[in-house]
Amino acid sequence: MKEKEILEELKKRIKKSYSPYSKFRVAACLVTRKRKKYFGVNIENASFSLTLCAERVAAGCAVEEGDTDFKKLYILTDSKRPELPCGACRQFLAEFNPKLEIISFSAAGKRKKTKLNDILKFHFKL
Ligand code: THU
Repeated sequence: MKEKEILEELKKRIKKSYSPYSKFRVAACLVTRKRKKYFGVNIENASFSLTLCAERVAAGCAVEEGDTDFKKLYILTDSKRPELPCGACRQFLAEFNPKLEIISFSAAGKRKKTKLNDILKFHFKL
């Protein structure tokens, strides 16, 4: 699947975002070394802190399949500029690949490419 096709899929999936409180929709696609794709959207809750970010929903789907070799993360947000994963998601994703490639898209059609180790210099490890 090419980047353009992933973006088209994210545009469909973002409609499934459950974000009645912030009204900020996010869709994520994690691509693994096996070239498999796992999608997620943000899921909010009336008890706000229980909200799940799209990135962590996608990561959970991949881990559940035993597919933890994350290669790329694509994110689409309802925003003017492309957004990066929040701090909690950075730590969560670094568990599996601190060098993960991140490609972010905004609803306005902008694109930004970065690497997880550029936006999280050190992560917590045990
Ligand atoms: N959100 C994500 O899904 N991913 C992020 O990396 C940052 C924030 C969601 C959580 C909440 O539903 C909404 O965006 C506003 O914070």
